[in-house]
Amino acid sequence: MRILLGVSGGIAAYKAVLLLRLLREAGHAVRVIPTPTALRFVGAPTWEALSGEPVSTDVFDDVEHVQHVALGQGADLVVVAPATADLLARAAAGRADDLLTSTLLTVHCPVVMAPAMHTEMWAHPATVANVATLRARGVHVIDPASGRLTGRDSGPGRLPEPEDIAREALAVAERARVPQDLAGRRVVVSAGGTREPLDPVRWIGNRSTGRQGIALAQAARDRGAEVVLVAANLEAQGASQCADRVVPVESTAQLRDAVRAAAAEADVVVMAAAVADFRPASPSEAKLKKTPGQGPAPIELVENPDVLAELVRERLRPGQVVVGFAAETGDVSAGVLEHGRAKAVRKGADLLAVNAVGDGRGFGTPDNEVWVLDAAGDQVAYARGTKRQVADVLWDAVAKVLGR
Ligand code: CTP
Repeated sequence: MRILLGVSGGIAAYKAVLLLRLLREAGHAVRVIPTPTALRFVGAPTWEALSGEPVSTDVFDDVEHVQHVALGQGADLVVVAPATADLLARAAAGRADDLLTSTLLTVHCPVVMAPAMHTEMWAHPATVANVATLRARGVHVIDPASGRLTGRDSGPGRLPEPEDIAREALAVAERARVPQDLAGRRVVVSAGGTREPLDPVRWIGNRSTGRQGIALAQAARDRGAEVVLVAANLEAQGASQCADRVVPVESTAQLRDAVRAAAAEADVVVMAAAVADFRPASPSEAKLKKTPGQGPAPIELVENPDVLAELVRERLRPGQVVVGFAAETGDVSAGVLEHGRAKAVRKGADLLAVNAVGDGRGFGTPDNEVWVLDAAGDQVAYARGTKRQVADVLWDAVAKVLGR
């Protein structure tokens, strides 16, 4: 990426030196645009040496290249750190009194500002209004950290650590590349596999790790949705970052309650969890013991409610899109896709993602292969690739259904 690093004049400018290093080490080209005051804290040679690019503060430098326009139009991301109260005020007012503010008026890419100032300045109604104006215009203003300030005082107003600014700014740029076609949508994703207790230490479960469900939640979130993840015994990492809310569950009964509660508010429900069809009829409160010489005791099973079928039947919210998954192995009677087609028709979900499992496919692997069928069993999409790529193809199909 081509990043513009704006630095305005505050003590925290020294931390922008570390931020510059981090962005360069992450492989990005960075052009630093300090304000004239910023150069009183950290000089131009430091910026030039570490960025490998020339530094100027004024639109009257290098006039023949019309710098502010060339820089602004060529940028993929602008990070202003530290953003002083004065810089926020000038940006909010649309002023163009130095190279940095002039450039801010020419950019089309995401702009991230990391304010740093004394607590009184941050809390002042003028600054509060300027931040609100900038945010309303789409600028991503990071809340300052709380802690030691320039003098002896401490409180909100401290520049966040360079690592945190870099992470957040790059995530903003990453999101900007992803279409926001699920913005304003509420989405529920169930992931993982349910466990049906036999006794306090044993259960009947399945091999689902939750990787595909987490990828679905993450993709939806990146595309702008508000995501609730109903997490059934996840082995895969990343649940806490991929959703706005995570509801941990173990059994099918708990999953059913959690999904239905969240579905009452949701535009889309994706049942990616592997849900047990049966559960032990009467789980023991105490650990089951073997009696020598008597052999195993039979386990009586009863049927679980079919959560997906209930959602399809009841439509807890008008216009809700319900998506199911079908993990199939194929057998002598039919192949994976034939079983999938029959299930699509039987389940009646708006979309059914059919994937082949067994022989090392599906469970716990980074990749997946999925046919997306509509309620009539007709194929509307096909995806083969990482679970994230599969997730995006499925959301493309969901977005089409939502758009109808
Ligand atoms: N499902 C569900 N509740 C159940 C069982 C399954 O909500 N009690 C959901 C799964 O989350 C998945 C879809 O139904 O989205 C298909 O699950 P699957 O086990 O493949 O289908 P079954 O109806 O159980 O069919 P079968 O086991 O006969 O293949």
